[in-house]
Amino acid sequence: MCGIIGIVGVGPVAPRVVESLRRLEYRGYDSAGIAAHVGGRLDRRRAKGKIRDLEAVLAEEPLHATTGLGHTRWATHGAPSVRNAHPQKSGRVMLVHNGIIENFAALKAELKAMGREFESETDTEVVAQLIDVGLEAGKAPIDAFKAALGRISGAYALGALIEGHENLILGARRGSPLVVGYGEGEMFLGSDALAVGPFTHRISYLDEGDFVAIDHHGARIFDASGQPVERAIRAVSASAALVEKGNYRHFMEKEIHDQPDACQHTLSAYLDPIAGVAAAPEGFDFTTIDRLQILACGTAYYAGLVARYLIEDLAGLPTDVEVASEFRYRNPAVAPSTLALAVSQSGETADTLAALRWCKAKGLRTAAIVNAPESTMSREVDLLWPTHAGPEVCVLSTKAFTAQVTALTALGIAAARARARIDAEEEKRLVEVLLEAPRLLSEALEAVEDQVRPIALDVSRARDVLYLGRGPMFGLALEGALKLKEGSYIHAEGYAAGEMKHGPIALIDEDTPVIVVAPSDHFFEKTMSNISEVIARNGSVILVTDERGAAHAPANAKVVTVPECDPLIAPLIFATPLQLLAYQVGVSKGADVDQPRNLAKSVTVE
Ligand code: F6R
Repeated sequence: MCGIIGIVGVGPVAPRVVESLRRLEYRGYDSAGIAAHVGGRLDRRRAKGKIRDLEAVLAEEPLHATTGLGHTRWATHGAPSVRNAHPQKSGRVMLVHNGIIENFAALKAELKAMGREFESETDTEVVAQLIDVGLEAGKAPIDAFKAALGRISGAYALGALIEGHENLILGARRGSPLVVGYGEGEMFLGSDALAVGPFTHRISYLDEGDFVAIDHHGARIFDASGQPVERAIRAVSASAALVEKGNYRHFMEKEIHDQPDACQHTLSAYLDPIAGVAAAPEGFDFTTIDRLQILACGTAYYAGLVARYLIEDLAGLPTDVEVASEFRYRNPAVAPSTLALAVSQSGETADTLAALRWCKAKGLRTAAIVNAPESTMSREVDLLWPTHAGPEVCVLSTKAFTAQVTALTALGIAAARARARIDAEEEKRLVEVLLEAPRLLSEALEAVEDQVRPIALDVSRARDVLYLGRGPMFGLALEGALKLKEGSYIHAEGYAAGEMKHGPIALIDEDTPVIVVAPSDHFFEKTMSNISEVIARNGSVILVTDERGAAHAPANAKVVTVPECDPLIAPLIFATPLQLLAYQVGVSKGADVDQPRNLAKSVTVE
C-alpha cells in the first residue's frame, strides 16, 4: 500500500525521506521513489523493489536537496516498474499519490487530444499533467493544484512539488488520509502519523476534501470549498502513531471513516484496473473447485453471508457459510473438491482456526481472508488472501468487515470469469464498479452522518430494535443488529425481511424501531411490502435506502439516504449508516464503544 512523506527541511532531505519510507514498509509496496529540488530544478530517483533498492540508486546518483517528496507504491494502475513508480512527472510537476483516480481514462484521452504525451500507465500521471496544464496557463501553483482537484474523481491523497517553488509542497486528501507535521523551521506531509514520526510529534490531520500548501513558515489549509481553515495541532507519540485516533473521539468512529482507504488498499491486491481483471492474490484457479465453504465467527460470518449471494449469483459457485463453532463439532459432510475459506480479522479466532484445521486434516485445500498478516491462520493456510484494512483497534469490527466484503466481491468476479459465467467485457464493467467503492464509501459517510443523528436519538430510547433486509442486505441486517447490541447494549435482532411474518412481527409496536435496509434493487418491492406490514401494525420504520428508493418511502417512515450505487457494491455502501447509527447510539448512551463490556478483540478461546 502506498505511503507518502514530504519534507520542507533544513538538512539533507534524501536520507530523511528514506528513513520515513522505511517506517511505511509495514504497509507493503513494490516500488519507491523520491523527488527533490536540486539547483533550481526538480529531479527524482526511483526503484522497483525495496527501499534498499532505492538507496542503492541514491548512492549511485545522490540527490542534494533540503525539500523532497517520497513515496512507496503498491501497484494499481500499471505494473510495478521504475516507469510507473512515483513521483510521477509532467512538465514542472512531480506528484505522489495514494488511491485511485476513477476518471483517469477520460482525462487521459482529453489530455492526449491536447497533444500531451504520457510516459507511464499510471492514473497518477494524469493528475500531474492536469496541474502542469494549469501552470502553463499561468495559474499560481495552488490554483493549478485546486483546478486539477476539481477535475478528478476517486479516493486519494496527493503530494506535489512544483519546479521554481523550492520550499513548497502541496497536498490534498479525499478518502485517503494525509497529515501535516509541524517541526522547528521545518514542515512535513505524511500519509500517516508514523511517516512524520521520526521528525515531529506535532501533527494536524486533514479532513475530507482539504488541501494544503506547506512551506518553511507553516501550513495553509483549505477545506473542500476552498475556504482557509485551521486544523487542530495535536501531540502524537511515536509508539501511538500506528494506532491513534486522529481527529476522532473514538477508534470506532475513526475506523468507520478509514473504510474508503481500507477498501481501496484491499482492492489493490485483487484488481488490475488497467486490464479490468480481478484475480486472487498469488493466483487461484476457481475451476479446480466445485464448492466454497466459508467459515467464520461474528461479523466475519456476516461478511460471508453477504458474499454468498454475490458469489453464487455471479459465479454460480455453490457456497456454504457456517459459524465456525458449529461447523467444527458437527462432523460435516464436505466434498473433496471444496475449498475451505476462513474469514477473520485477527486470524486467531479459536473456533475459526479449529474449523480450518479440521478441513485441512480432511485433505481439503484451505484459504483465509485475514487482516493480520502475521497471524496463525495466515501461516497455516494454503492460500492467504489478505484484507488491507490496517490495524483495527475498536473491539467492534467495522473496516475489517467492509474489507472482507471487498475481498470476497473481488474473488466472486474472479471466480465468475474463471467459470465462464461472465465474459471479459462484463468482468471489466464489474471491476470498474468495484473501483468506485472507495469514493462512494467516502460520499456515503459524508451524506449519512447528519441524517443518522436524529434517528440515533430515537433508537437510543428503544428497548428492542429489529433490522430487516433481503438478499445481501439480510447479512447486513444481522451485522447492523450486532453492531447496535455491542455498541449500545440495546437488544437488537436481524431478520430476513420475508421471515418477519413467521414470528418477529409479534414484536411490532410503536416503541420498537424497525430498521429496513433496502437499496432500490430487484428485492425492493418485496421489502416494501414488508414495510407496509410493519406500518399497518403501528410500527415505526427507519428505511435505509438510496435516492430512487427514498422516492417510494411511505410517508410515515424515517429515511436515511445513501448515494445511488450498483448492486455489486451496495453491501459496502449500506454498511456505513448502520455502523454510524450504532456508534452514535452507543455514544449518546455513554457506552464504551471501543471496548464494550464482556467483549475481546481477539477471541482465542472456544
Ligand atoms: C463484532 C466482532 C466479532 C468478530 C468475531 C470474529 O464487531 O468484531 O463478532 O467479528 O469475534 O473475529 P475475527 O474476525 O478476528 O475472526
